[in-house]
Amino acid sequence: MLSSYVTNIGKLALPQLSDNGVPADPVRILQNVWVEIQNGKVSRIGPEGESEPEALTPDVEQISAEGMLVTPGFVDCHTHPVFFGTRESEFMRRCAGETYQQIAASGGGIMSSVRGVRSASLEQLSKLVRKRFDSFLRCGTTTVEAKSGYGLSFDDEIKSLDAIESAAENYPIDVSPTLLGAHVVPPEYKDDPDKYVGIVCSKMIPEVVNRGIAEAVDVFLEEGAYNLSQTKRIFEAAKSNGIGIHLHADQFSVTGGAQLTAEYGAFSADHMDMTDDEGIEALRDGDVTVVLLPGAVFFLGLDQYAPARKMIENGCRIAVSTDFNPGSSPTQSMPLIMSLACIKMGLTPGEALWAATLGGAHALKRMDSVGTLLPGYLADMCLWDLDNVAGIPYFFGNMIPKVVIKRGEVVKGCM
Ligand code: NIG
Ligand code: FE
Repeated sequence: MLSSYVTNIGKLALPQLSDNGVPADPVRILQNVWVEIQNGKVSRIGPEGESEPEALTPDVEQISAEGMLVTPGFVDCHTHPVFFGTRESEFMRRCAGETYQQIAASGGGIMSSVRGVRSASLEQLSKLVRKRFDSFLRCGTTTVEAKSGYGLSFDDEIKSLDAIESAAENYPIDVSPTLLGAHVVPPEYKDDPDKYVGIVCSKMIPEVVNRGIAEAVDVFLEEGAYNLSQTKRIFEAAKSNGIGIHLHADQFSVTGGAQLTAEYGAFSADHMDMTDDEGIEALRDGDVTVVLLPGAVFFLGLDQYAPARKMIENGCRIAVSTDFNPGSSPTQSMPLIMSLACIKMGLTPGEALWAATLGGAHALKRMDSVGTLLPGYLADMCLWDLDNVAGIPYFFGNMIPKVVIKRGEVVKGCM
């Protein structure tokens, strides 16, 4: 079997496996090592102090890390990349003092992106999603979750998932697509939201499962979006169709979403900025990965970040993610999200890297294949011109990897 090598690794950062919670020592550092790759996966890690394997012949493919820091590629486990048109005008209104909720109540917000997606063709959307994948890759993301959610009709939600599928074809990012048919209530069903929930449950979910175009279902549980009993109906349908569950909850109020995700064995509970002590206990006991989205809190100019320290200290497993979307978090930079997680939520840089890699992998139930670089894991790597992991969040706002490797191939490099 043909092998290739990444040699001359100055420091190899290995997020540590853990069945429950964030490990006390989240990232192990190996100094001066090499990594052997076979079939796109890590097959061996050399001993510390040996920068390349003995008897490496010149014909063997070799990427020299030139002494750089190597981490796993990021697993960005919560994004909304299918939108047509941006929302700078709303940003300007918010800069002038209007709130996100006021803008939504006046017909903007998520609904303005819904108008955009409905007006766009599959080809237009797929081209845009592909361009957005380029930016994820540039920032070091090698696995990304991607939601629909700006279509809000059977045809437009399926068109959004088709756009994700075609953008992902032969593209060096692994994509985990999610049906967010229940993002907000579409205007056509304003007077009968339960009827629309019925369409999500009996038409959209079976279709995406049949066609294999989504791995999970998501709901926005919040005042002005969907309530607990509607969310439950959608979770029941997800369960009976054998598809995973994510949930947007506790973004602006305590919703009961923590308990609900625990009850239904959801993959993740996302946002969770307002979650109280009972919610934290439920998330821990239910083994639900909590996906923290500090970019949305920051960009909306809010003060209440999720109680991440309390969550970690109480044994919750956490992930961090960009929540990339045109309204509340138009960033694709996981390094910037790590900065916010450290500064606004009190994570250590090691915890932030863990949450941005293995934590994200747990939220997508891919923790056996991505998120660290042990033998058997995908050879998805970022090479950083840095001396240590803390440099990633420290150089906030403009830190990107020098080189990105996906399944053993250099896909972005400027060495
Ligand atoms: O995750 N909270 C709900 N949905 C998105 C925002 C969507 C938008 O404003 O377009 C979020 O923040
Ligand atoms: Fe979101």
